[in-house]
Amino acid sequence: MKPQQPLAKRLCVLGLLAGFCVHAAAAAQTPALDDKPAFIDSLIERMTLEEKIGQLRLISIGGDMPRPRILEELAAGHIGGTFNTVTRHDNRPMQDAAQRSRMKIPIFFAYDVVHGHRTIFPIGLGLASSWDMDTIARSGRVAAIEASADGLDMTFAPTVDISRDPRWGRTSEGFGEDPYLVSEIARTMVKAYQGKSPAARDSITASVKHFALYGAVEGGRDYNVVDMSPMRMHQDFLPPYRAAVEAGAGGVMVALNAINGVPASANSWLLRDLLRRDWGFRGITVSDHGAISELMRHGVARDGREAARLAIKAGIDMSMADSLYRDELPALVKAGEVDMGEIDAAVREVLGAKYDMGLFHDPYRRIGVAADDPQDVNAESRLHRSEARDVARQSIVLLENHQQTLPLKKRGTIALVGPLADSPIDMLGSWSAAGVAGQAVTLRQGMREALGDAATLGYARGANVTDDQHMVDYLNFLNWDNPEVVQDPRSAAEMIAEAVALANKADVIVAAVGESRGMSHEASSRTSLQLPPSQQRLLEALKQTGKPLVLVLMNGRPLELGWAKANADAILETWFSGTEGGHAIAEVLFGDYNPSGRLPISFPRSVGQIPTYYNHLRVGRPYVEGKPGNYTSQYFEEPTGPLYPFGYGLSYTQFELSDVSLSSRELSRGGTLEARVTVRNSGQREGATVVQLYIQDLVASVIRPVKELKAFRKVMLKAGEEQEVRFSLTEDDLKFFNAQLQQVAESGEFEVQIGLDSQRVQSQRFTLH
Ligand code: BGC
Repeated sequence: MKPQQPLAKRLCVLGLLAGFCVHAAAAAQTPALDDKPAFIDSLIERMTLEEKIGQLRLISIGGDMPRPRILEELAAGHIGGTFNTVTRHDNRPMQDAAQRSRMKIPIFFAYDVVHGHRTIFPIGLGLASSWDMDTIARSGRVAAIEASADGLDMTFAPTVDISRDPRWGRTSEGFGEDPYLVSEIARTMVKAYQGKSPAARDSITASVKHFALYGAVEGGRDYNVVDMSPMRMHQDFLPPYRAAVEAGAGGVMVALNAINGVPASANSWLLRDLLRRDWGFRGITVSDHGAISELMRHGVARDGREAARLAIKAGIDMSMADSLYRDELPALVKAGEVDMGEIDAAVREVLGAKYDMGLFHDPYRRIGVAADDPQDVNAESRLHRSEARDVARQSIVLLENHQQTLPLKKRGTIALVGPLADSPIDMLGSWSAAGVAGQAVTLRQGMREALGDAATLGYARGANVTDDQHMVDYLNFLNWDNPEVVQDPRSAAEMIAEAVALANKADVIVAAVGESRGMSHEASSRTSLQLPPSQQRLLEALKQTGKPLVLVLMNGRPLELGWAKANADAILETWFSGTEGGHAIAEVLFGDYNPSGRLPISFPRSVGQIPTYYNHLRVGRPYVEGKPGNYTSQYFEEPTGPLYPFGYGLSYTQFELSDVSLSSRELSRGGTLEARVTVRNSGQREGATVVQLYIQDLVASVIRPVKELKAFRKVMLKAGEEQEVRFSLTEDDLKFFNAQLQQVAESGEFEVQIGLDSQRVQSQRFTLH
């Protein structure tokens, strides 16, 4: 990137010709607000080194620095932005302090608004399960409206890390395993947060994370290294970040992991060559929390000075929650180890982002005036419940439904059991921003309201989420003063006995089981995907009653569901469904809403099968269903393939697909080919399904996956109704990264596969010339 010349200098060069250089220097004192580059140059020109470095600091409020000290630093112009405050009332004095600084450069306020702000929407996996971009956009827009109304300018979202390893706790935050689906969502979320323009009063700037490949940490263990071939990177893991950048994301948060031996935070290939040069990113790069000082622990920096030098040279504009830029950059610049041009380039991006947020035009754009502050920031009236309910019901996936156990009738007696049936905090899921547990509707509440007096609803907790004290301590570690996992002091046997007694008197059992929200979170990697034994024992005891057993799963990652599949009468995957989760799940349970969610990630049969992703590469000795024999690629003690495939989900009605027809057997470069299929609702009630189109490149210069999602359409059909769905394919849909990392479509034969999940598909072939 070539830094622009300062305005005064540019004017001077022109001015020398006309003899008005003195005037030009004076012009530099009066920044022209309408001309962004000139305005920013004029600021940079007048800033001291300390003020410039100040702009590169992103400070956590509530961290080490006491508030009065923060205000002093702000007034000295030594902080560029803050995060972790969520009210205008809190933010205003900080902006006031920044406005008292010599340069009066506004600060911005950031926060992790990941799946909602005050109103909490389903976690990322849940949003992705809707396969509906309008629905996902609604969640992002509401989050932006609520967050900006609280004086926030930026969110550290969307999280678009592809995850193929559900042991990784942050799988919950992302949108699943597929590059195409996650890229669509990345684009949608950036646009939803940033609205018409990041400058709009009700917009927040999106800072996409975690760049890059964080979801591929080895063994699913958080913060572990990533070692990956460039082809795989470009083909499968990088597209969603790129989609976010192309959609105009104003920020990029750099990942905590190393990539092929170089930590992302010190990786100039990643940040300078790929992000800025190849993708043309303009905006700020921020390190993740403390990541620059972690360069020492990675063992690539001897000391703080070297860490700061590596990070700024690699292209990290803002350092989050460490003091290394403040402490080390001045001396590095004086020693000539870091150029002023490098500092200026980073400052230019920070000021540019603030300009784009509209903060130079009005530093109080989102903070407003004190008289307009909400009396109660948590007031009911500030929530968007109907949007949350609508999004939540679309995020629920029906995995099993034997003998039409669901929908339940609103009559008789229902036994609701399980540690997650009435746990408001767990409804919210991890990273629940400013969400308040007390405002979340639990399943118990939701069912009670849905039933009214029509049926009897009994409740028993039945088990703790886990009886493993080590696990409880770990999950409560960050919240000693307000532990989230609160144990019922009764013995496991006593709790199960109570639940079984309740079940014995009921017509049906609804068991809400899974994970506490902290189990699927940052630093919450697991070696097992099973339900904790306390809950498994509860389910086995309930099964013994012989009553129909409906499982309502709440969890942030695919779980191992072999027992559940074999024993439950129905299974609903509800993820962590947010503020309105209880209402939404009840609507599905009682058939007021016909479930339409589809899995955005494969469910392995066991942890040993990981990674289990549908778009895997072909091998020389593939396992062939139904053909016995050794020496094929499989694990011999259990069936091959996932328990539930990517794209899978049932409905209360049935859908049938016709054969696929193609408009031609040939596709020429620059041309279009149409794939058509008719989908029919052959069941008894209205419902939605997702028609999914996959492509397989049959022969290429490098091994290509068995299939790749290239398009999908969610279709709502009345009972008996049918609709033709048409997909247009072009050469672009056939492109991939070859061994030279060029994106090409190679001539030859392709297979179009269309189905209602990634496994059961109809196919046709065509040739690209
Ligand atoms: C997480 C980021 C988050 C940041 C700020 C880090 O620990 O990895 O995702 O945005 O904290 O809260």
